[in-house]
Amino acid sequence: MKEIKIFCPATIANVSCGFDVLGLCLDTTGDQMVIRKVEEPGVKITKIIGQDLPLEAEKNVAGVAVLAMLKKLNNTTDGFEIEIYKNIKPGSGIGSSAASSTGAVYGVNQLLGQPFSQHELIAFAMKGEELASGVPHADNVAPALLGGFTLVRATQPLDVIKLHTPSELYATVIHPQIEVKTADAREILKSKLRLKTAITQWGNIGALVSALYTEDYDLLSRSLHDEIVEPIRSILIPAFDLVKEACKEAGALGSGISGSGPSIFALSKGEQTAQKVAEAMKAVYNKVGVQYDIHISKVNDQGIKIL
Ligand code: HSE
Repeated sequence: MKEIKIFCPATIANVSCGFDVLGLCLDTTGDQMVIRKVEEPGVKITKIIGQDLPLEAEKNVAGVAVLAMLKKLNNTTDGFEIEIYKNIKPGSGIGSSAASSTGAVYGVNQLLGQPFSQHELIAFAMKGEELASGVPHADNVAPALLGGFTLVRATQPLDVIKLHTPSELYATVIHPQIEVKTADAREILKSKLRLKTAITQWGNIGALVSALYTEDYDLLSRSLHDEIVEPIRSILIPAFDLVKEACKEAGALGSGISGSGPSIFALSKGEQTAQKVAEAMKAVYNKVGVQYDIHISKVNDQGIKIL
């Protein structure tokens, strides 16, 4: 294989109670990438359509991820050209940098005859996250590479578990048209917690994981709460409380900040409810006069797809 074209999915990190550990993969929103093997060794980003991002490999999340991978292989002979077609806006909270870094390592791995497993690619893609936000978090790159829901038990050494996804689960995501940099959204978080808060949070995350496996939508609904990050970050998001209230009234199982925001996600049982939730979210932003993009998606159990 000399060339590969792929779909690089958007992802929802944190999923309310799972800051830096939980994530899920979307199906209908994402970037595309074309990667080809060329004579000249090294990595060249030849085209980025849709966003103004650096073409230099060392300054681009896709470039640094592939360079890390080639370094691990001691590969100084192969060369790759990467074209990136961005649909996911940087700073939107649905894993823009993760889509690029995972797509790049996935594509190059395919062209090299798959020396690495999907799990092993996570570590290289995290280099892209480190460049983008200063922290090599894995909660977007893991679901993009593995599909479905993922849990990052640890990052050093890396221990990522793919979880079960309930069959009728849909996500609705609304993106108010402002940019929130992950680094800034991390900066405002507190470094200490009250034990009582931590107890509530780990109760919820344990229950959420159980709910995924048992497909217990009521338990999932009760678990979709974030006592730690949402109360702080929600101030960065226009009409956050109104959107959340509207999601609940429209029948969502729960809602919260997607990744580091400003996108807000809601999970619903069934596509019809997810549609109703989308209408409710739109109504709030239309009323308060906020521009937005909106996406409805089933959870994508596959992750990156070859086109
Ligand atoms: N877990 C990360 C954060 C995700 O919330 O900062 C960023 O997309």
